[in-house]
Amino acid sequence: MLLSHLLWRAGIENVVIEQRSREYVEARVRAGVIEQGTSDLLRSLGLGSRMDREGFVHEGVTISNNRSPFRVDFKHLVDRVVMVYGQTEIQKDLYDSGVGAGWPIVFEAEDVQLHAVTEGQPFVSYNVGGEAATIEADYLAGCDGFHGVSRHAIPSDVKREYERLYPFGWMGVLSETPPVSHELIYSRHPRGFALCSMRNPMLSRYYIQCVADTDAASWTDQQFWDELRRRIPDEAASSMVIGPSIEKSVTPLRSYVAEPMQWGNLYLAGDAAHIVPPTGAKGLNLAFSDVYYLAEALSQRYSNGSTTALEDYGAKALRRVWKAVRFSWWMTTMLHTFHDAGDFEHRMQETELDYLAGSVAAQTAMAENYTGLPF
Ligand code: PHB
Repeated sequence: MLLSHLLWRAGIENVVIEQRSREYVEARVRAGVIEQGTSDLLRSLGLGSRMDREGFVHEGVTISNNRSPFRVDFKHLVDRVVMVYGQTEIQKDLYDSGVGAGWPIVFEAEDVQLHAVTEGQPFVSYNVGGEAATIEADYLAGCDGFHGVSRHAIPSDVKREYERLYPFGWMGVLSETPPVSHELIYSRHPRGFALCSMRNPMLSRYYIQCVADTDAASWTDQQFWDELRRRIPDEAASSMVIGPSIEKSVTPLRSYVAEPMQWGNLYLAGDAAHIVPPTGAKGLNLAFSDVYYLAEALSQRYSNGSTTALEDYGAKALRRVWKAVRFSWWMTTMLHTFHDAGDFEHRMQETELDYLAGSVAAQTAMAENYTGLPF
């Protein structure tokens, strides 16, 4: 939807083909932290007013090691901040504005298939309400997520995949309670990682590291709250307001990159090409930088006929992708309990946190990455 906006603003006709219904997309609980560059981009498109009214600027985060907290002050270290404003809310703002402008979005498209990606006239076929349809285009943008069809159009002898599966998941709970802290708390603890996050002053989002294939329904709310409170600083544990969960789910953690991000007239963006574990809050932000590069490249193609930027798209996007993959992997490795880790790995993890707690240089590197590398 963001790519669609950027293209319309540049006068480039496009159609969004969405597998789900608008209601489904607007009800999904998704990520919540956006980088400064992401919020600046939304503002520049005139999509920042509800975000600035209802979102929350965070100038730092708390990191806790074995219940002992320290703060990383982004504003002070790099003069940049992040914004807590749900991806679901951004999606609503994009739909409202796109539908309001009359830009075409096909919802509930089934059996989407890409055709003639490398030669001839590219087109997409799909069914809506039992009716077959096709759309021809100069270019196809594969923004259909990790489980979408686009990436599979790249032949396996061309595609190179890089993957790290982590031996645990995150169990997330959303509850209508005031957040325990006005900023996020990332906690390392021998029992496992925990994260205290939020959506608004009466909506909290909490996560605990769990066994990868845990069935969320097998945990009662009380078990979740008890486990969460064991892993976070005392002060937070004792002041936390608990209540019934309104959503509880388990997410696996993985790092994944597929190269190249371009094949013929198909350009991949976001989770269609790469996945990061949620620890660095990078997933949505990376999709934004990908489509920003892609929109710039397409604008050049339609304004002066040059395809140079389109040819460079994959390499340019991947340089930023790999840095976010590194940062998310670093945060994940530093903060989680790896049950197969030996004594040496354990000491390295302790030392990484001790160094971060005491070094302005280390905190500056974290702040630079967390608030977002430039794009
Ligand atoms: C969230 O609020 O859902 C959230 C925040 C920070 C993360 C991951 C998820 O690193």
